Amino acid sequence: MKSNVKIMIAGGCGFIGSSLAKFFLTKYTNLQVYVFDNLMRKGSELNLKRLKSDRLFFIKGDLSIKKNFIKLPTCDFFIDAAADPSVLSGIDSTITGIINNNFISTLNAIEWCANTGCKFMFLSTSRVYPIQKLDSISFVDSPTRFEWVENHNMRGFSIDGIDENFDMNGYRSLYGSSKYSSELFIHEFGKYKKLKYIINRCGMIAGPWQMGKIDQGIISYWVSSHIYKRQLKYIGYSGSGKQVRDVLHIDDLCILIDKQINNWSKLESNVFNVGGGKSNSISLLELTELVNNITGIKMPILRVKNKRDADIRIFITNSRKIKNVLGWEPTLGIKKLVKDTSEWILKNKKNLEGIL
Ligand SMILES: NC(=O)c1ccc[n+]([C@@H]2O[C@H](COP(=O)([O-])OP(=O)(O)OC[C@H]3O[C@@H](n4cnc5c(N)ncnc54)[C@H](O)[C@@H]3O)[C@@H](O)[C@H]2O)c1
Repeated sequence: MKSNVKIMIAGGCGFIGSSLAKFFLTKYTNLQVYVFDNLMRKGSELNLKRLKSDRLFFIKGDLSIKKNFIKLPTCDFFIDAAADPSVLSGIDSTITGIINNNFISTLNAIEWCANTGCKFMFLSTSRVYPIQKLDSISFVDSPTRFEWVENHNMRGFSIDGIDENFDMNGYRSLYGSSKYSSELFIHEFGKYKKLKYIINRCGMIAGPWQMGKIDQGIISYWVSSHIYKRQLKYIGYSGSGKQVRDVLHIDDLCILIDKQINNWSKLESNVFNVGGGKSNSISLLELTELVNNITGIKMPILRVKNKRDADIRIFITNSRKIKNVLGWEPTLGIKKLVKDTSEWILKNKKNLEGIL
């Protein structure tokens, strides 16, 4: 990266934002990082504390309020990692919060970036892919997980996962829709307002410093519930725990985003799926066994038959596009991810009590 680069990270005190800030500050001795966050996520204060550096500047503010952008310093890159990332948000509550935090905030950010010539990276989500279509893919019920079977007629689907060509018609959760709406406007700003952008549709990201809760950050939530001995439940799918996701270690995501920033012109105006992929996929049932082995703690888990709103049977990311362009692929497996998460919680057990 060229010298004296300035990076603004919206949501810079969240899990991904703070991990990126830490990564950049450690790797480059000549750049400045601005973190812009309203600290609405429980535990964000702890993430801010770990970012101490004379090249780190904290701006406390709500991105959905346009006037908060007026005095921002001009920057080279803006990474939008601010959102309410829960797939249940807005379902049983008013949608004002999710629209403000996930859509209006991003609109304000892209307008500011287009006006100031700042390159914009959006952390979108695999949740933009429609639920009904995903759940219509044929599967088999194996002993510890559901598994897709090959279906040659479905665009964007292969046994290796979902790629960027998947059909976008259908409902996708209010969370997914708020992020997809942002994506649509980012493309428009690219065309009509000369916004320079990259969109990363992330699958499940996990690792240390994720303040996992029941509706978001499942790996951290599962590990911490074992360590703090909290009741866990397999919800939906007859309480089988066989639903599957792929997971990407946060350190692999940081490496990718750094590569993307350093190869910006090659990637500009593109959408990329980013995830752990088939070899880093796991069911809840399998996760329990892994957590048992790593922590040495076993817990009784309740079985709840009825499916939770907006849940999906299987999601696996196909990141072939970014691999082909940049040569990036995940290097850290799920075992390491669970081990790192467990060690982090044990090391910070007192501080994290009441947050995790
Ligand atoms: N963690 C994942 O598995 C995952 C997967 C796919 C996509 N993403 C996307 O990545 C981004 C970061 O996710 P995360 O896991 O770090 O979430 P997080 O909740 O840990 O961090 C989000 C941060 O944004 C801040 N924030 C929210 N609304 C704000 C507002 N209006 N103004 C200022 N700050 C605000 C919160 O205080 C928090 O610190 C999100 O956009 C999310 O949609 C995350």
